[in-house]
Amino acid sequence: MSRAIAGFSKLSKEQKIDWLANEYFKSPEETSALLRKYWNTDDVLQKLHDEFIENTISNFYLPLGIAPNFTINGREYTIPMAIEESSVVAAASKSAKFWATRGGFKATVLDTEKIGQVHFMYTGDAEKLTTFFEATKQEFFTDTETITKNMQKRGGGILNIELRDKTALIPNYYQLHATFETVDSMGANFINSCLEQFSKTLREEALLYNAFTEDEKNIHVVMSILSNYVPNCVVRAEVSCPIEDLNEDKNISPEEFANKFINAVKIAEVEPYRAVTHNKGIMNGIDSVVVATGNDFRAVEAGVHAYAARNGQYSSLSHAKIEHGIFTFWLDVPLALGTVGGLTTLHPLVKFSLEMLGYPSAQELMQIVAVAGLAQNFAALRSLTTTGIQQGHMKMHLMNILNQLEATDNEKQQAVKHFEKNTVSHSAAADFVNHLRTIDPTRIEEDFLQ
Ligand code: MEV
Repeated sequence: MSRAIAGFSKLSKEQKIDWLANEYFKSPEETSALLRKYWNTDDVLQKLHDEFIENTISNFYLPLGIAPNFTINGREYTIPMAIEESSVVAAASKSAKFWATRGGFKATVLDTEKIGQVHFMYTGDAEKLTTFFEATKQEFFTDTETITKNMQKRGGGILNIELRDKTALIPNYYQLHATFETVDSMGANFINSCLEQFSKTLREEALLYNAFTEDEKNIHVVMSILSNYVPNCVVRAEVSCPIEDLNEDKNISPEEFANKFINAVKIAEVEPYRAVTHNKGIMNGIDSVVVATGNDFRAVEAGVHAYAARNGQYSSLSHAKIEHGIFTFWLDVPLALGTVGGLTTLHPLVKFSLEMLGYPSAQELMQIVAVAGLAQNFAALRSLTTTGIQQGHMKMHLMNILNQLEATDNEKQQAVKHFEKNTVSHSAAADFVNHLRTIDPTRIEEDFLQ
């Protein structure tokens, strides 16, 4: 029987849940109760979340953690991180503390230019189109004045508009390639509104251009949209210290550690299989701050990975070197972020995160986010090149395993103590908890270790 439904969006939230629970679930009552359990008891807050998207039936929680002890450009921060993966917040905090005593993180915004394009088809003489564009260029600025007025007051606006001939790729394909400064907003709405006006101006002006033939006047706009590839909206985060200061681990000398670390980065620079995982670790830090501050992590992800492949092969976003006895580790990353507009004044926890960060400008947030990525990468590489990541990761993951096993608080406490000295695995944790449940809990350590 078909599950197609007409007019679904018009149903109330309750009706949507009833339909869903009855159509797809063995126990509709339990399903409905589960979804309601995740509703906020504050009706106003719930309505706010309901209205973020369409067909909301419940809320999907992510933990919000904080990583203290970050020093960035001499200023102290506690960084908010919304992420479900264990170890990430702990790793960021550990890196923050490590570098706080070694000069902290430095971050520099290299550029803040955003990009948008009008993609169109023009059948005719390319030189004539260029002459038309040069003659009309000012109109694109004039016709968007109502859109750009406020942005200009804030120091932003349209930076430039170029005509690009793409006919070598697709016959008759051209672009208006425009660059923008959007100051503290991510700028998607501003850019898209400008582009849609450019598209209108382009079609209207072409119709009035006497030098065009009838065919040439008939410009077909395919689409007008910003690009999430922002290779000129880039921030650099960096740490450095004399090699001998890398002296945290008693089992490895600072020199050996620095060399192993640099080799690990070099491998990620040349080997795409490793680069993807290496960059994934960076994105653990980046995405969690991007989400906590209400920014668009899909846009950031798409742009970052395109940037990582900009030279024709996917490669590491971070780099490391030793020069004159100084170890330096850095990361360049494109980040189109906003601290005004979007969710920033709507989502209470986004407002909380921004207040905690001291209401940063978009440029300052770019620096904080890039530092979170570098901190994460440092922690991952440090573990990978010394103890391996599973030791720390499984310790952090232990609580998830214990929750899966429905361990009581008492069982959790004993398990945490036991696994301080023993290797964590799902089966070891299950054995431990099962054993606890069959014996006198006061004797567990003794019995289990025999
Ligand atoms: C896990 O989420 C991230 C790491 O795999 C990153 C890396 O390998 O560099 C640990």
